[in-house]
Amino acid sequence: MTALLSDSRDALYRPVSRIMRRDQWERLYAEDIEAIQRLKQQCNAVILAHNYQTPEIFHCVADIRGDSLALARAAQNVRADVIVIAGVHFMAETAKLLNPDKTVLIPDAAAGCSLAEGITERDVLSLKQANPGVPVVTYVNSSAAVKAQSDICCTSGNARKVVESLGVPRVIMIPDEFLARNIEAETGIEMITWPAHCEVHERFTPQEIRQYRRVHPGVKVMAHPECPPSVLAEADCAGSTAQMSHYIKEHNPQKILLVTECSMSDNLAAEFPETEFVRPCNLCAHMKRITLPTIRHALETMQTQVDIPQDIAANARRAVERMLAV
Ligand code: 13P
Ligand code: SF4
Repeated sequence: MTALLSDSRDALYRPVSRIMRRDQWERLYAEDIEAIQRLKQQCNAVILAHNYQTPEIFHCVADIRGDSLALARAAQNVRADVIVIAGVHFMAETAKLLNPDKTVLIPDAAAGCSLAEGITERDVLSLKQANPGVPVVTYVNSSAAVKAQSDICCTSGNARKVVESLGVPRVIMIPDEFLARNIEAETGIEMITWPAHCEVHERFTPQEIRQYRRVHPGVKVMAHPECPPSVLAEADCAGSTAQMSHYIKEHNPQKILLVTECSMSDNLAAEFPETEFVRPCNLCAHMKRITLPTIRHALETMQTQVDIPQDIAANARRAVERMLAV
């Protein structure tokens, strides 16, 4: 190996050096990581990675990392010609809405989301008919067609702010019933909800959290607002995945339990060696469809490109841009 190659390999490995053995990283990931770095340059591409991506993606090939809100904000300012979304399909649609003239790639088109699949455009129309004049706030975890029927979007990071910005006593908040109930409890604004759930966060239980507290006295518990309200009631605080990272950066807790998807703690453990992560994680099989080989293949073939019909895109973009302006 030349000195140059070994220096750049060192730099690529460094961010995961606290959580992965070098020989394992070399054997499983190094070749794909280097190929992806080359392809990004050749294609003038950037990779946007969600916090639930595995560490070898999140720390070794991503250019922009964050929660759904941060990725949507970043997508507004991307200069590259090609955007690869290391995340799920609705995130790629959001990036395409904000960059209609760029090529947006999702490395596995089957990377869906139980929330996005839990409601259709027709469901939204029925809710609007049954509740005339009530504004529709749609979680970004939804299809472009559903967003197009909405007044404004929100993410878990800005849901409270978005809902309060409307200045009304009652909103239709879809599709995540638990997020809506949790925001209702925080704001006192009445929510008309829809019975869709995140298949990852709905599995956590209050009993499980109490058991972790017994085994780890003094542990700080932070839960994602997609969890059931009964789980949030057991937590010390709640927040989006970015708010979880900020909390650790600001407070340096000795021991923390993040009630969310597995890779969240893995990625933070690489950055915060002083904090012990208790991990009652549940895995998102959709997020895990994205791998180094599928990202490499996407860049080699320029597949799968995300496209949104123009009539849907215009209204969906309006709802996303309205959120970003709040
Ligand atoms: P945030 O990253 O916005 O907190 O969302 C979590 C999630 O489940 C995304 O699919
Ligand atoms: Fe959807 Fe839940 Fe997976 Fe996020 S974690 S993509 S909300 S199923």
